[in-house]
Amino acid sequence: MSAVHDSKQFRGALSAFATGITVVTSRSSEGQDFGLTATSFNSVSLDPPMILWSLDRKSSNAEAFAKTGAFAVHVLASDQEHVCKQFSTKGIDRFAGLGCGRGYAEVPVIPGCAAVFECRIAHRYEGGDHVIMVGEVHSFTSGQKDPLVFYRGKICDPFLQPNA
Ligand SMILES: Cc1cc2nc3c(=O)[nH]c(=O)nc-3n(C[C@H](O)[C@H](O)[C@H](O)COP(=O)(O)O)c2cc1C
Repeated sequence: MSAVHDSKQFRGALSAFATGITVVTSRSSEGQDFGLTATSFNSVSLDPPMILWSLDRKSSNAEAFAKTGAFAVHVLASDQEHVCKQFSTKGIDRFAGLGCGRGYAEVPVIPGCAAVFECRIAHRYEGGDHVIMVGEVHSFTSGQKDPLVFYRGKICDPFLQPNA
């Protein structure tokens, strides 16, 4: 058992939890699209349908997400590693070359994902150095594509064969 003195070790322990990779997008009232890569996504409620993710307060997107009323969570497919990289790189146009459409509240929607959840922001909670964003799902799409998988700090092959 370790007390949490060392945040690097804490992050290492958290990375034992394999996740998918999402990109969260939104649009400001001034018509500016923004978004970022996030692995903190999770399900919350079936009725009403709700999901969550958490946003680093230090993100360049923190102010924009504090003002917006909607977002879309894109569960990235195994052929979208470049989208993961694009939305975690600073100083570039993160939407370039993706051919985004528009969804609920004019939020940009990235094509070709494993699933997309278009949400109204229902709650924002304090979460230490992050803000927990809870979305009520307005609509969603889900296909048959394999997901990207993130484990131990790395993107992994999605050979997710279920146990017999
Ligand atoms: C695999 C991966 C997962 C990430 N998960 C989150 C997350 O859940 N929440 C978050 O705020 N940032 C997360 N980030 C960091 C954001 O993508 C980060 O905002 C970006 O790298 C820095 O740009 P920004 O300051 O413009 O947001 C993640 C980055 C990567 C590569």
